[in-house]
Amino acid sequence: MSNFAITFSPTGGTLRVVQAVTSAWQDVRHIDLSEPAKTFDEVAFGKSDLVAIAMPVYSGRIPAFAVRRLLQMKADGSKCVIIAVYGNRAYEDALVELQDTAAKCGFDVIAAITAVAEHSIMRQFATGRPDKDDAAELAEFGRRIMEAVHTADSKALCLPGNRPYKNVDGGAFVPKATHRCTGCGICARSCPAQAIDTDDPRRVDKSRCIGCFRCVSVCPEHARRFNPLLLKSFAMLMGKAFAGRKPNELFI
Ligand SMILES: Cc1cc2nc3c(=O)[nH]c(=O)nc-3n(C[C@H](O)[C@H](O)[C@H](O)COP(=O)(O)O)c2cc1C
Repeated sequence: MSNFAITFSPTGGTLRVVQAVTSAWQDVRHIDLSEPAKTFDEVAFGKSDLVAIAMPVYSGRIPAFAVRRLLQMKADGSKCVIIAVYGNRAYEDALVELQDTAAKCGFDVIAAITAVAEHSIMRQFATGRPDKDDAAELAEFGRRIMEAVHTADSKALCLPGNRPYKNVDGGAFVPKATHRCTGCGICARSCPAQAIDTDDPRRVDKSRCIGCFRCVSVCPEHARRFNPLLLKSFAMLMGKAFAGRKPNELFI
């Protein structure tokens, strides 16, 4: 049996969650869905493999960009745990969408986790999560999945969420370069969607940008941002939905 973790994690929160979940697993091989200019048609998993698939929640769904990449992979009934990571508002239909997408690839989804990580757009929500307590709890989830891997019944796995999934309308929040931009191009080289011009990082192809905020998080000059006034009013409007410490959950 080989162990794998497939992750789409533009700003690192989802990766920290999957690292905690798989911390007690042997020799985990990581596959990064956010790598720019990458195809995954050659990726295939065998029947005896155990695979964790982790994605962030975007507007109550999983990112369409990452779904397209995951669907290039093939699995032969490989056991799989799906992980939806969200910024302390809600995960809505993301978990069932990830369950269906994994099944379409040929995975046998035996367990599911929802976990909270710092909000990648509004960092004042779920700040510092996953924290020490989260990491311990997520590692325990991972151990329980390992114990149950041969007995867990995927047919009995009933997850929260709606089918059909909620509609996602409206474009991405497209971050822009400020006057601090030195044109170093780190953002352009790490943009999963290749939406930033490598010759002039101030230019962004809005039709390609998926609003993942990786460019904001990797900029050494803190020179990229989305309209702060709009974000402030959005945070005020939505504030109640982010209240309280939301739990991590294991479904098995
Ligand atoms: C475009 C976008 C939409 C998001 N929508 C939601 C959401 O519907 N609910 C929520 O709780 N968090 C939401 N978040 C927060 C992310 O799910 C959360 O911060 C996640 O940890 C980001 O993953 P990453 O750090 O691996 O990039 C959203 C973030 C982005 C960038």
